Amino acid sequence: MHFGDTIMQWSEQLAQFSEPHWAEKGQLTVTYLTEAHIATGRTLGALMREAGFDEVSTDAVGNIVGVYHGQSHSAPHLLTGSHYDTVRNGGKYDGRLGILVPIAAVRDLVQRKQRLPFGIEVIGFAEEEGQRYRATFLAASALTGAFDPAWLAQVDSDGVTMQQAMQHAGLPGTLEAIAALKRDPTKYLGFVEVHIEQGPVLCEGALPLGVVTSINAGIRATCKTIGMAAHAGTTPMLMRQDAMLAAAEISLMSEQRALADADSVATVGQFQVPGGSINVIPGECSFTLDMRAPTDQQRDALVSDILKQAQLIAERRQVKFEYTEVMRAAAAPSDLAWQQRWERAVAAVGLPVFKLNSGAGHDAMKLHTSMPQAMLFVRGGNRGISHNPLEIITAEDAELTVQAFIALLDDLVARPSEL
Ligand code: GLV
Ligand code: MN
Ligand code: MN
Repeated sequence: MHFGDTIMQWSEQLAQFSEPHWAEKGQLTVTYLTEAHIATGRTLGALMREAGFDEVSTDAVGNIVGVYHGQSHSAPHLLTGSHYDTVRNGGKYDGRLGILVPIAAVRDLVQRKQRLPFGIEVIGFAEEEGQRYRATFLAASALTGAFDPAWLAQVDSDGVTMQQAMQHAGLPGTLEAIAALKRDPTKYLGFVEVHIEQGPVLCEGALPLGVVTSINAGIRATCKTIGMAAHAGTTPMLMRQDAMLAAAEISLMSEQRALADADSVATVGQFQVPGGSINVIPGECSFTLDMRAPTDQQRDALVSDILKQAQLIAERRQVKFEYTEVMRAAAAPSDLAWQQRWERAVAAVGLPVFKLNSGAGHDAMKLHTSMPQAMLFVRGGNRGISHNPLEIITAEDAELTVQAFIALLDDLVARPSEL
Protein backbone atom coordinates (compact mmCIF):
# COMPACT_ATOMS: atom_id res chain seq x y z
CA MET A 1 0.00 0.00 0.00
CA HIS A 2 2.80 2.39 -0.80
CA PHE A 3 0.66 5.18 -2.35
CA GLY A 4 -1.73 5.31 0.59
CA ASP A 5 1.01 5.53 3.21
CA THR A 6 2.82 8.19 1.18
CA ILE A 7 -0.32 10.37 0.94
CA MET A 8 -0.93 10.06 4.69
CA GLN A 9 2.69 10.96 5.45
CA TRP A 10 2.73 13.93 3.06
CA SER A 11 -0.56 15.18 4.55
CA GLU A 12 1.01 15.16 8.04
CA GLN A 13 4.10 16.92 6.67
CA LEU A 14 1.96 19.75 5.27
CA ALA A 15 -0.15 19.93 8.44
CA GLN A 16 2.87 20.87 10.56
CA PHE A 17 2.49 24.49 9.35
CA SER A 18 -0.24 26.48 11.06
CA GLU A 19 -0.70 30.12 12.07
CA PRO A 20 0.67 31.04 15.52
CA HIS A 21 -2.50 31.52 17.58
CA TRP A 22 -3.94 28.25 16.19
CA ALA A 23 -0.71 26.24 16.15
CA GLU A 24 -0.39 26.77 19.92
CA LYS A 25 -3.67 24.90 20.35
CA GLY A 26 -2.69 22.16 17.90
CA GLN A 27 -5.18 23.49 15.32
CA LEU A 28 -4.67 23.87 11.58
CA THR A 29 -5.21 27.32 10.08
CA VAL A 30 -3.48 28.31 6.86
CA THR A 31 -4.84 31.47 5.26
CA TYR A 32 -3.55 33.28 2.20
CA LEU A 33 0.11 34.36 2.25
CA THR A 34 0.71 34.02 5.98
CA GLU A 35 4.05 32.50 7.05
CA ALA A 36 2.38 29.10 7.50
CA HIS A 37 0.86 29.37 4.04
CA ILE A 38 4.18 30.26 2.42
CA ALA A 39 5.89 27.35 4.23
CA THR A 40 3.15 24.96 3.06
CA GLY A 41 3.60 26.12 -0.53
CA ARG A 42 7.37 25.73 -0.27
CA THR A 43 6.94 22.17 1.02
CA LEU A 44 4.58 21.33 -1.85
CA GLY A 45 7.18 22.62 -4.31
CA ALA A 46 9.84 20.44 -2.64
CA LEU A 47 7.55 17.39 -2.85
CA MET A 48 7.03 18.06 -6.57
CA ARG A 49 10.79 18.40 -7.16
CA GLU A 50 11.53 15.19 -5.22
CA ALA A 51 8.81 13.41 -7.22
CA GLY A 52 10.67 14.29 -10.43
CA PHE A 53 8.51 16.99 -12.04
CA ASP A 54 10.35 18.71 -14.93
CA GLU A 55 9.38 22.23 -13.87
CA VAL A 56 8.26 23.55 -10.49
CA SER A 57 7.47 27.20 -9.89
CA THR A 58 5.49 29.61 -7.73
CA ASP A 59 3.32 31.93 -9.77
CA ALA A 60 2.25 35.54 -9.18
CA VAL A 61 -0.67 34.63 -6.88
CA GLY A 62 1.30 31.99 -4.96
CA ASN A 63 0.08 28.91 -6.82
CA ILE A 64 2.62 26.09 -6.82
CA VAL A 65 2.82 24.78 -10.37
CA GLY A 66 4.47 21.46 -11.28
CA VAL A 67 4.78 20.31 -14.89
CA TYR A 68 5.65 16.79 -16.00
CA HIS A 69 6.12 16.96 -19.74
CA GLY A 70 4.56 14.56 -22.18
CA GLN A 71 6.47 12.71 -24.89
CA SER A 72 6.91 16.08 -26.58
CA HIS A 73 7.22 19.41 -24.78
CA SER A 74 4.50 20.87 -26.95
CA ALA A 75 1.99 18.12 -26.10
CA PRO A 76 -1.19 19.47 -24.43
CA HIS A 77 -1.46 19.25 -20.64
CA LEU A 78 -3.94 17.58 -18.39
CA LEU A 79 -4.59 20.22 -15.72
CA THR A 80 -5.26 19.05 -12.17
CA GLY A 81 -4.88 20.14 -8.56
CA SER A 82 -6.72 21.71 -5.66
CA HIS A 83 -6.06 24.26 -2.91
CA TYR A 84 -3.61 24.32 -0.01
CA ASP A 85 -5.16 27.07 2.11
CA THR A 86 -7.54 26.00 4.88
CA VAL A 87 -10.45 27.40 6.84
CA ARG A 88 -9.68 28.34 10.44
CA ASN A 89 -9.28 25.20 12.54
CA GLY A 90 -9.84 23.08 9.44
CA GLY A 91 -8.89 19.56 8.38
CA LYS A 92 -5.73 18.17 6.78
CA TYR A 93 -7.26 16.87 3.55
CA ASP A 94 -9.66 19.57 2.28
CA GLY A 95 -7.83 20.73 -0.83
CA ARG A 96 -4.42 19.22 -0.13
CA LEU A 97 -5.49 15.68 -1.09
CA GLY A 98 -6.18 16.87 -4.65
CA ILE A 99 -2.58 18.14 -4.97
CA LEU A 100 -0.87 15.17 -3.31
CA VAL A 101 -2.69 12.46 -5.31
CA PRO A 102 -1.42 13.66 -8.73
CA ILE A 103 2.06 14.25 -7.26
CA ALA A 104 2.09 10.57 -6.21
CA ALA A 105 0.89 9.54 -9.68
CA VAL A 106 3.62 11.59 -11.39
CA ARG A 107 6.25 10.15 -9.02
CA ASP A 108 5.10 6.71 -10.13
CA LEU A 109 5.48 7.66 -13.82
CA VAL A 110 8.97 9.04 -13.13
CA GLN A 111 9.99 5.87 -11.31
CA ARG A 112 8.73 3.79 -14.23
CA LYS A 113 10.49 6.21 -16.65
CA GLN A 114 7.19 6.67 -18.44
CA ARG A 115 6.17 9.67 -20.57
CA LEU A 116 2.56 10.03 -21.72
CA PRO A 117 1.27 11.55 -24.97
CA PHE A 118 0.22 14.56 -22.83
CA GLY A 119 1.86 16.57 -20.08
CA ILE A 120 0.52 16.72 -16.52
CA GLU A 121 0.29 20.13 -14.86
CA VAL A 122 -0.45 20.01 -11.14
CA ILE A 123 -1.52 23.22 -9.40
CA GLY A 124 -1.44 23.73 -5.66
CA PHE A 125 -3.99 26.58 -5.64
CA ALA A 126 -2.98 29.23 -3.11
CA GLU A 127 -6.47 30.37 -2.13
CA GLU A 128 -9.92 28.86 -2.32
CA GLU A 129 -11.50 29.39 1.09
CA GLY A 130 -11.99 33.19 1.17
CA GLN A 131 -10.70 33.54 4.74
CA ARG A 132 -8.11 36.32 4.94
CA TYR A 133 -9.59 38.35 2.08
CA ARG A 134 -13.08 38.32 0.62
CA ALA A 135 -11.67 36.95 -2.60
CA THR A 136 -12.76 33.32 -2.67
CA PHE A 137 -11.22 31.28 -5.53
CA LEU A 138 -8.74 34.05 -6.28
CA ALA A 139 -6.05 31.52 -7.27
CA ALA A 140 -8.21 29.62 -9.78
CA SER A 141 -9.68 32.92 -11.01
CA ALA A 142 -6.19 34.04 -12.05
CA LEU A 143 -5.97 31.01 -14.37
CA THR A 144 -9.26 31.82 -16.08
CA GLY A 145 -8.61 35.56 -16.41
CA ALA A 146 -11.25 36.38 -13.79
CA PHE A 147 -9.02 37.87 -11.08
CA ASP A 148 -10.91 40.98 -9.94
CA PRO A 149 -8.49 43.97 -10.01
CA ALA A 150 -10.27 45.44 -6.96
CA TRP A 151 -9.05 42.51 -4.85
CA LEU A 152 -5.49 43.90 -4.72
CA ALA A 153 -6.65 46.87 -2.64
CA GLN A 154 -8.71 44.78 -0.21
CA VAL A 155 -7.48 44.85 3.39
CA ASP A 156 -7.35 41.97 5.87
CA SER A 157 -8.42 42.40 9.51
CA ASP A 158 -5.02 43.99 10.29
CA GLY A 159 -5.30 46.54 7.48
CA VAL A 160 -2.77 44.79 5.20
CA THR A 161 -3.76 45.09 1.54
CA MET A 162 -3.60 42.02 -0.66
CA GLN A 163 -0.98 43.76 -2.76
CA GLN A 164 1.18 44.37 0.33
CA ALA A 165 0.74 40.73 1.39
CA MET A 166 1.84 39.59 -2.07
CA GLN A 167 4.90 41.83 -2.08
CA HIS A 168 5.78 40.74 1.46
CA ALA A 169 5.71 37.14 0.16
CA GLY A 170 8.10 38.07 -2.66
CA LEU A 171 5.39 38.11 -5.35
CA PRO A 172 5.18 41.04 -7.81
CA GLY A 173 1.69 42.14 -6.70
CA THR A 174 0.91 43.66 -10.10
CA LEU A 175 -2.16 43.13 -12.27
CA GLU A 176 0.13 42.63 -15.24
CA ALA A 177 1.88 39.63 -13.64
CA ILE A 178 -1.46 38.18 -12.55
CA ALA A 179 -3.05 38.65 -16.00
CA ALA A 180 -0.17 36.61 -17.49
CA LEU A 181 -1.35 33.53 -15.52
CA LYS A 182 -4.43 33.14 -17.71
CA ARG A 183 -4.34 29.74 -19.40
CA ASP A 184 -5.05 29.18 -23.09
CA PRO A 185 -7.68 26.38 -23.00
CA THR A 186 -6.55 25.04 -26.40
CA LYS A 187 -3.33 23.91 -24.71
CA TYR A 188 -5.22 21.74 -22.20
CA LEU A 189 -7.13 18.48 -22.40
CA GLY A 190 -9.29 19.48 -19.46
CA PHE A 191 -9.27 19.88 -15.66
CA VAL A 192 -9.77 17.11 -13.12
CA GLU A 193 -9.85 17.61 -9.36
CA VAL A 194 -9.68 15.04 -6.59
CA HIS A 195 -11.24 16.19 -3.29
CA ILE A 196 -12.42 14.75 0.00
CA GLU A 197 -16.24 14.57 -0.17
CA GLN A 198 -16.83 16.80 2.90
CA GLY A 199 -20.21 15.18 3.46
CA PRO A 200 -21.67 11.89 4.74
CA VAL A 201 -22.88 10.23 1.51
CA LEU A 202 -19.87 8.03 0.67
CA CYS A 203 -19.20 7.22 4.33
CA GLU A 204 -22.80 6.14 4.95
CA GLY A 205 -22.83 4.14 1.71
CA ALA A 206 -19.52 2.38 2.55
CA LEU A 207 -18.13 3.68 -0.76
CA PRO A 208 -14.46 4.76 -0.97
CA LEU A 209 -14.88 6.90 -4.13
CA GLY A 210 -17.64 8.83 -5.88
CA VAL A 211 -17.82 10.56 -9.25
CA VAL A 212 -19.14 14.13 -9.17
CA THR A 213 -21.98 15.01 -11.55
CA SER A 214 -22.26 18.74 -10.75
CA ILE A 215 -21.13 21.40 -8.26
CA ASN A 216 -23.81 23.56 -6.64
CA ALA A 217 -24.13 27.28 -7.41
CA GLY A 218 -23.35 29.75 -4.63
CA ILE A 219 -23.46 33.40 -3.61
CA ARG A 220 -21.77 34.90 -0.56
CA ALA A 221 -22.43 38.33 0.91
CA THR A 222 -21.35 40.48 3.81
CA CYS A 223 -24.30 42.18 5.49
CA LYS A 224 -24.86 44.88 8.02
CA THR A 225 -27.88 46.07 9.98
CA ILE A 226 -27.68 49.59 11.38
CA GLY A 227 -30.08 50.65 14.12
CA MET A 228 -29.61 52.94 17.09
CA ALA A 229 -27.37 52.20 20.05
CA ALA A 230 -29.19 53.16 23.24
CA HIS A 231 -29.34 52.52 26.99
CA ALA A 232 -30.31 48.90 27.70
CA GLY A 233 -32.01 49.85 30.97
CA THR A 234 -34.03 52.92 30.01
CA THR A 235 -35.24 52.25 26.45
CA PRO A 236 -38.63 50.48 26.45
CA MET A 237 -38.80 47.29 24.36
CA LEU A 238 -41.15 48.82 21.81
CA MET A 239 -38.98 51.91 21.27
CA ARG A 240 -35.78 50.17 20.17
CA GLN A 241 -33.96 49.90 16.86
CA ASP A 242 -31.95 46.80 17.78
CA ALA A 243 -29.56 45.94 14.92
CA MET A 244 -28.65 42.52 16.38
CA LEU A 245 -32.27 41.36 16.69
CA ALA A 246 -32.93 42.43 13.09
CA ALA A 247 -29.88 40.40 11.95
CA ALA A 248 -31.01 37.46 14.08
CA GLU A 249 -34.46 37.57 12.52
CA ILE A 250 -32.93 37.76 9.03
CA SER A 251 -30.76 34.71 9.89
CA LEU A 252 -33.76 32.66 11.05
CA MET A 253 -35.77 33.76 8.02
CA SER A 254 -32.89 32.59 5.74
CA GLU A 255 -32.97 29.19 7.42
CA GLN A 256 -36.73 28.90 6.82
CA ARG A 257 -36.46 30.03 3.18
CA ALA A 258 -33.69 27.50 2.43
CA LEU A 259 -35.74 24.74 4.11
CA ALA A 260 -38.61 25.46 1.71
CA ASP A 261 -36.54 24.15 -1.24
CA ALA A 262 -35.09 20.74 -1.96
CA ASP A 263 -31.30 20.98 -1.51
CA SER A 264 -30.97 24.76 -0.98
CA VAL A 265 -28.78 25.84 1.94
CA ALA A 266 -28.26 29.20 3.67
CA THR A 267 -25.69 29.83 6.39
CA VAL A 268 -24.80 32.78 8.62
CA GLY A 269 -21.19 31.84 9.44
CA GLN A 270 -20.06 35.11 11.02
CA PHE A 271 -22.13 37.34 13.30
CA GLN A 272 -20.77 40.27 15.29
CA VAL A 273 -21.86 43.31 17.26
CA PRO A 274 -18.80 45.52 16.76
CA GLY A 275 -17.91 47.40 19.91
CA GLY A 276 -20.97 46.03 21.72
CA SER A 277 -21.48 46.30 25.48
CA ILE A 278 -23.53 44.32 27.97
CA ASN A 279 -25.73 47.34 28.75
CA VAL A 280 -26.10 48.85 25.27
CA ILE A 281 -28.76 47.97 22.68
CA PRO A 282 -26.77 46.95 19.60
CA GLY A 283 -26.56 49.84 17.13
CA GLU A 284 -24.85 47.77 14.47
CA CYS A 285 -24.52 44.11 13.56
CA SER A 286 -22.31 42.59 10.85
CA PHE A 287 -22.94 39.12 9.52
CA THR A 288 -22.31 36.98 6.47
CA LEU A 289 -24.67 35.02 4.24
CA ASP A 290 -23.64 31.97 2.20
CA MET A 291 -26.47 30.70 -0.03
CA ARG A 292 -26.26 27.69 -2.36
CA ALA A 293 -28.48 25.55 -4.54
CA PRO A 294 -28.08 22.86 -7.23
CA THR A 295 -28.91 25.23 -10.13
CA ASP A 296 -28.29 28.93 -10.82
CA GLN A 297 -32.04 29.47 -11.16
CA GLN A 298 -32.86 27.90 -7.77
CA ARG A 299 -30.03 29.85 -6.12
CA ASP A 300 -31.18 33.15 -7.66
CA ALA A 301 -34.75 32.61 -6.42
CA LEU A 302 -33.41 31.77 -2.95
CA VAL A 303 -31.25 34.90 -2.80
CA SER A 304 -33.94 37.16 -4.20
CA ASP A 305 -36.52 35.97 -1.64
CA ILE A 306 -34.07 36.30 1.25
CA LEU A 307 -33.18 39.84 0.18
CA LYS A 308 -36.82 40.92 -0.16
CA GLN A 309 -37.75 39.51 3.23
CA ALA A 310 -34.63 40.97 4.86
CA GLN A 311 -35.70 44.39 3.60
CA LEU A 312 -39.17 43.94 5.11
CA ILE A 313 -37.71 42.85 8.46
CA ALA A 314 -35.38 45.85 8.45
CA GLU A 315 -38.24 48.27 7.70
CA ARG A 316 -40.46 46.81 10.42
CA ARG A 317 -37.62 47.08 12.93
CA GLN A 318 -36.59 50.54 11.69
CA VAL A 319 -33.02 49.56 10.91
CA LYS A 320 -31.01 49.93 7.72
CA PHE A 321 -30.00 46.73 5.92
CA GLU A 322 -26.81 46.72 3.83
CA TYR A 323 -25.86 43.83 1.55
CA THR A 324 -22.62 43.44 -0.43
CA GLU A 325 -22.15 40.42 -2.65
CA VAL A 326 -18.57 39.12 -2.33
CA MET A 327 -18.70 35.85 -4.29
CA ARG A 328 -20.85 34.45 -7.08
CA ALA A 329 -20.16 31.05 -8.62
CA ALA A 330 -22.36 29.40 -11.21
CA ALA A 331 -23.34 25.74 -10.87
CA ALA A 332 -20.76 23.60 -12.65
CA PRO A 333 -22.13 20.41 -14.18
CA SER A 334 -19.35 17.93 -14.98
CA ASP A 335 -18.33 17.50 -18.60
CA LEU A 336 -19.90 14.18 -19.55
CA ALA A 337 -16.85 12.73 -21.31
CA TRP A 338 -14.60 13.56 -18.32
CA GLN A 339 -17.17 12.29 -15.84
CA GLN A 340 -17.25 9.00 -17.77
CA ARG A 341 -13.44 8.82 -17.67
CA TRP A 342 -13.64 8.97 -13.87
CA GLU A 343 -16.41 6.35 -13.90
CA ARG A 344 -14.20 3.98 -15.92
CA ALA A 345 -11.23 4.74 -13.64
CA VAL A 346 -13.27 3.89 -10.52
CA ALA A 347 -14.49 0.66 -12.15
CA ALA A 348 -10.90 -0.14 -13.19
CA VAL A 349 -9.78 -0.25 -9.55
CA GLY A 350 -12.59 -2.68 -8.78
CA LEU A 351 -15.00 -0.30 -7.04
CA PRO A 352 -18.70 0.30 -7.68
CA VAL A 353 -19.38 3.43 -9.72
CA PHE A 354 -21.35 5.83 -7.56
CA LYS A 355 -22.32 9.34 -8.68
CA LEU A 356 -23.16 12.33 -6.50
CA ASN A 357 -23.32 16.10 -6.69
CA SER A 358 -21.16 18.51 -4.70
CA GLY A 359 -22.67 20.83 -2.12
CA ALA A 360 -19.23 22.36 -1.44
CA GLY A 361 -17.51 24.84 -3.74
CA HIS A 362 -14.29 23.85 -5.49
CA ASP A 363 -11.55 25.28 -7.72
CA ALA A 364 -13.12 23.21 -10.53
CA MET A 365 -16.06 25.67 -10.53
CA LYS A 366 -13.77 28.39 -11.80
CA LEU A 367 -11.83 26.21 -14.27
CA HIS A 368 -15.27 25.18 -15.54
CA THR A 369 -15.57 28.58 -17.25
CA SER A 370 -12.60 27.87 -19.51
CA MET A 371 -12.27 24.10 -20.03
CA PRO A 372 -14.14 20.81 -19.49
CA GLN A 373 -13.91 19.55 -15.91
CA ALA A 374 -14.94 16.67 -13.68
CA MET A 375 -14.17 15.77 -10.07
CA LEU A 376 -13.58 12.62 -8.05
CA PHE A 377 -14.65 12.52 -4.40
CA VAL A 378 -12.95 10.49 -1.69
CA ARG A 379 -14.83 9.22 1.37
CA GLY A 380 -14.30 11.15 4.59
CA GLY A 381 -14.50 9.27 7.90
CA ASN A 382 -16.40 10.52 10.97
CA ARG A 383 -19.54 10.69 8.80
CA GLY A 384 -17.76 12.95 6.35
CA ILE A 385 -17.32 15.91 8.69
CA SER A 386 -15.19 18.68 7.14
CA HIS A 387 -14.12 22.29 7.86
CA ASN A 388 -13.39 20.68 11.20
CA PRO A 389 -10.27 18.99 12.65
CA LEU A 390 -12.23 15.71 12.78
CA GLU A 391 -11.92 15.50 8.99
CA ILE A 392 -10.18 12.19 8.21
CA ILE A 393 -9.48 9.70 5.43
CA THR A 394 -7.89 6.24 5.56
CA ALA A 395 -4.63 5.16 3.93
CA GLU A 396 -6.62 2.42 2.15
CA ASP A 397 -8.87 5.01 0.51
CA ALA A 398 -5.86 7.19 -0.35
CA GLU A 399 -4.30 4.15 -2.03
CA LEU A 400 -7.46 3.55 -4.10
CA THR A 401 -7.57 7.26 -5.03
CA VAL A 402 -4.04 7.29 -6.45
CA GLN A 403 -4.79 4.04 -8.27
CA ALA A 404 -7.95 5.61 -9.74
CA PHE A 405 -5.96 8.68 -10.81
CA ILE A 406 -3.45 6.42 -12.56
CA ALA A 407 -6.36 4.52 -14.14
CA LEU A 408 -7.67 7.86 -15.47
CA LEU A 409 -4.26 8.52 -17.07
CA ASP A 410 -4.27 4.99 -18.55
CA ASP A 411 -7.77 5.59 -19.90
CA LEU A 412 -6.63 8.81 -21.62
CA VAL A 413 -3.71 6.96 -23.20
CA ALA A 414 -5.95 4.08 -24.30
CA ARG A 415 -8.59 6.27 -25.97
CA PRO A 416 -6.67 9.14 -27.59
CA SER A 417 -9.27 9.50 -30.35
CA GLU A 418 -11.82 10.67 -27.79
CA LEU A 419 -9.86 13.80 -26.93
C1 GLV B 1 -15.39 25.66 0.18
O1 GLV B 1 -14.78 25.03 1.01
C2 GLV B 1 -16.79 25.90 0.36
O2 GLV B 1 -17.14 26.73 1.20
O3 GLV B 1 -17.60 25.20 -0.29
MN1 MN C 1 -12.97 23.99 2.26
MN1 MN D 1 -11.77 22.39 -0.56
